[in-house]
Amino acid sequence: MARNATRPAAAAAAVPRPDERATWLETYRSVRAETERRASLLSPEDQIVQSMADASPAKWHRAHVTWFFEQFLLIPHLSGYAIFDERFPFLFNSYYVSAGPRHARPQRGLITRPHNDDVRAYRAHVDAAVERLIETVPADRAEHVFSILEIGLHHEQQHQELLLTDILHAFAQNPTDPAYDPDWQMPRSATGPRGFVAVPSGIQVIGHDGASFCFDNETPQHEVLIPEVRIARHLVTNAEWIAFIEAGGYRTPSLWLSDGWTAVQAEGWQAPGYWREIDGGWHAMTLGGLRPVDLESPVLHVSYYEADAFARFAGKHLPSEAEWEVAARAGLLADVFGIAWQWTRSAYLPYPGFRAAEGALGEYNGKFMINQMVLRGSSLATPAGHERVTYRNFFYPPARWQFSGVRLAEFA
Ligand SMILES: [Fe+2]
Repeated sequence: MARNATRPAAAAAAVPRPDERATWLETYRSVRAETERRASLLSPEDQIVQSMADASPAKWHRAHVTWFFEQFLLIPHLSGYAIFDERFPFLFNSYYVSAGPRHARPQRGLITRPHNDDVRAYRAHVDAAVERLIETVPADRAEHVFSILEIGLHHEQQHQELLLTDILHAFAQNPTDPAYDPDWQMPRSATGPRGFVAVPSGIQVIGHDGASFCFDNETPQHEVLIPEVRIARHLVTNAEWIAFIEAGGYRTPSLWLSDGWTAVQAEGWQAPGYWREIDGGWHAMTLGGLRPVDLESPVLHVSYYEADAFARFAGKHLPSEAEWEVAARAGLLADVFGIAWQWTRSAYLPYPGFRAAEGALGEYNGKFMINQMVLRGSSLATPAGHERVTYRNFFYPPARWQFSGVRLAEFA
C-alpha cells in the first residue's frame, strides 16, 4: 500500500473486475516487499533483540504480520488452507484474546527459534496462499475478502514503522552506537513563515466519511465545536527544546503534570529520548547512528509529559485533536506528515457513536481507548501512502521511543 492506500474504485461492485484482482496482487506484493526491505538492513542477531517490553524484535514483527493474514484472511476464507506451523499462532498472536492464547509480550526477545529462515519460509507460504485467494475468491465474497486483505496491509504498514522505532531503541542501548542505515538523512522540514494561524472556529466536521479505507477509530464523522484558537504552522525545533533545557525545564516541577514530574524523577529525564551531551554539545541516536542534534530540525522522541511541560514553559498549549484536524484540512499546517507524530491534548476516546468491528478484529483499536493520548500526522518512519488527515495514533503519556514531536497552540 506504499503507493495505493485506498480501496480500488471497483471494490464495492458485486463482480470484481480482472484489473481489481491485479491491483490487489500488486499492492499486496508491494507492502510485503517493503517490510522485507526494512528488515534487510538488519542481521539475524539484530532481529532477535527486544530492548524493552513495549518493543518487539524485527523477526517477531515479520512473523506477526504474517500470522495476521493467516488468522483473519486465510483460515476463514481460503478453503483447504494448511497452517504453516501449528505452534506459530501462540508465538505470533499479539493481543487478540478471541484468537486464542499467546506468548507473553515482554518475552518475545527469548524466541531465538524459529530461525530467520523459518520466518522467511512462513512469509513465503502465506504469500503464496494470499495470492491464490486474491486470484480465486468467488465474486460474491470478493468485497468482504478484499476488505480484510486491506486491513492486513495497513496493519503491516503500522508494523513497518514499529520495526524502525523498536530497532532504534535497541541500538540506542548499544555502546557502539550502531547505525540502522549509515546513509539515512533526516527529512527536511518546511520553510516559510513561522508563527501561529487562526483555526476555523465554530461548528466543524472531523473524522472519516468511510468512502475509502480507514481504521474504525476514525469514525463516525461528526461535528465538533472549535473555539477561537491559533495553531503553530511549524513543529517545535531542537533549538527551542535546548532553550527549555537550559532554562531548567527538566528541573522545574511547576511546569509538569504530577505524573510527568514523577516520570522525570524516576527516569532521570534531562533531555528528549536518545539525546546525549558530548563535549558540551547535544547528540542524538538516529536511524543513521549517533549524530549532532540539528538545531533547525523538529524535536523527536518526547513524551506527552514533556510536550505538555514544554507548552506550559512556552506559555502555550497543545492543540486538541479536533483543532489539529480542522487546521490540517484547511491547509494551514506545515510538516503535517512525514516527520513527527504530534501529541495532542486529547485523550484517546471513542468518537460519538463509535462501534468497534464485529468479531476478533473489533479488538484492533477499541479496547485501547483508555489512559492514552492521541497523536496526529505521521512520522519519518511511516510508510508512504499510510498517512491520513483523520488518522488517530495513540500512545501512553510516558512513551517516547516513537518519532513523537510537538506542535503548539495558543488561545487568543
Ligand atoms: Fe499487530
